[in-house]
Amino acid sequence: MSIAIALDGPAGAGKSSIAKRAAKALDYIYVDTGALYRTIGLAATRKGVEPVDSPEVNQLLSEINVDLTFNEAGEQIVLLDGEDVSGLIRTPEASMTASKISQIPAVRAYLLDLQRNMAKNHNVIMDGRDIGTVVLPDAQVKIFLTASPEARAGRRYKELVEKGMDVKYEDILQDVITRDYSDTHRETSPLKPAEGCVIVDTTELDFEQSVEKIISVIKENI
Ligand code: DC
Repeated sequence: MSIAIALDGPAGAGKSSIAKRAAKALDYIYVDTGALYRTIGLAATRKGVEPVDSPEVNQLLSEINVDLTFNEAGEQIVLLDGEDVSGLIRTPEASMTASKISQIPAVRAYLLDLQRNMAKNHNVIMDGRDIGTVVLPDAQVKIFLTASPEARAGRRYKELVEKGMDVKYEDILQDVITRDYSDTHRETSPLKPAEGCVIVDTTELDFEQSVEKIISVIKENI
C-alpha cells in the first residue's frame, strides 16, 4: 500500500518549497494541488469565463483536460489540453483567479479523482487546502502548516522580487489576507485543520528548520 502525507495550510506558509525538499529526502512524489486550481483559472481567463458558479464554468469543465505529469528531475508539470502551463499559472492574477474558482463545488468535484489517483499509485506528499479533510482523509500523516500573515506575505514578496516582478509588500499582504478569508470561509471544503493533524507553525522557523520539522513529524507518524 502506498503512503500518503496530507499537507494543508494557508497561502504562503512555505508548503510547496518545504514539501518539495521533504519529498526528495524521503523519495516520495510531491503533488501541488494548487496548480490544478490555478490551471482551471487560467482556462477560464483564456476563454473569457467569469470565475463564479455558473453554467459557463460547468461547460468549460466539460471542454478542458487537466493532467499532471513529472519531468526527469521529478518536478510536477501541469498540462492544460496537453500544453505545459506550469510557468503561466504563477502570477498574482492567477492566484486571485484560482482562489475564486476553487470556491465552485463543480470545480472541486472535477479535480477529486485526479488527486486521489495520484495517491493510489505513488507514495506522495500532497499539498493543498483540503487534502487531510476531503481528498485523502485516510492519509497516514496529516500536517497543517501555517505562519503569521506578515511572515507569509514577506516570503512571497521576496520570492516575486527575486523573479524580477515589480510588486509591493502591502499589496501582497492584502492578497494574503483576502485569500485567507475566502479560503477559510467558502462553503465547499473550507481550509481548516483536519482531525488528528499535527499543526506546524513556521513563523519563527527558517527554511531548513521547517524542512527538518516536517521530516521528523512524518517519520514519527509512519
Ligand atoms: O496553493 P496555491 O496558492 O497554489 O493555491 C491556489 C488557490 O487554490 C488557493 O487560493 C486555494 C486553492 N486551493 C484549494 O482550494 N484547494 C487545494 N487543494 C489547493 C488550492
